[in-house]
Amino acid sequence: MHWTVGGLSSALSGVVTQVSSKGAAGKPAAVKSPNPPAAKRPLIPAVLLKFVIAVSAVVLVGYLVVHMIGNLQIFFGRDAIDGYAVWLRTLLAPVLGNEGLVWAVRAALTISVVGHIWAATLLALRAKKARPVKYAAGNKVKGSYTTRTMRWGGVIVLLFVIYHILDLTTGTLNPNGEHLAVYDNVTADFTPERWYVTLFYVLALVSIFFHLRHGLWSATQTLGWSTNRREPILKAIATTFSGLLVVGFLIVPISATFGWI
Ligand code: HEM
Repeated sequence: MHWTVGGLSSALSGVVTQVSSKGAAGKPAAVKSPNPPAAKRPLIPAVLLKFVIAVSAVVLVGYLVVHMIGNLQIFFGRDAIDGYAVWLRTLLAPVLGNEGLVWAVRAALTISVVGHIWAATLLALRAKKARPVKYAAGNKVKGSYTTRTMRWGGVIVLLFVIYHILDLTTGTLNPNGEHLAVYDNVTADFTPERWYVTLFYVLALVSIFFHLRHGLWSATQTLGWSTNRREPILKAIATTFSGLLVVGFLIVPISATFGWI
């Protein structure tokens, strides 16, 4: 038989209709076709939303890699890390003005975070609405384990970033809080007495690990790279990349807490 995409989806919708036409107690259940008529098709196609998620993720992950490597300068001493912060602010100054690059990066990050959350939320709401079979009355649908982990992981990461900016960028919540005194701010932040701050950073970074690992893994599926044979290697790459990034970040607050820097 020759399958076309339309033929396959209408065949599938027939299966869904047949399977779901009886509820749990033999009563007819509400049925929604997974293939809505043109008039009901969403204004923004799912593929565009996935594209927004992917492009914003590339920007955010790129930033994280550079940020993590930059943070490691602290192991070369106070002058290295403080000098690095000043260097970032003067980089491309003839073209963008003083701090121009920093503000351009901040704008790109803000747009990416907003776009990422907007597209992911819209896709999640659609997936919820499109569920063809409604569960029996009062039986709340919780969504899959991964969906919930991604959603709550995303919320924790967002709260962390807000706290982190108030801590180490504006200095508002930092015990030292001196502008551009990165070494002193970091070492004052992570001390044995303030173990809960270190713990919060660890928890946030563990959430980032799971969020990133799953995101990378789903991206390979969306791009059609994943086959049965490649699956284990792609999963290993996603785990190794996310693990290295998170360990590279964690080594700084942990070293500061234990007095190694
Ligand atoms: C756990 C180890 C981390 C340390 C020690 C650290 C350290 C710092 C420091 C010192 C700054 C201020 C830099 C400056 O003013 O020049 C900063 C800014 C920032 N960090 Fe981190 N960071 C860590 C992890 C993260 C993570 C995991 C994220 C994202 C999820 C992140 C996102 C940011 C952002 C968005 C800024 C603001 C950049 C700006 O607008 O100037 N950081 N971080």
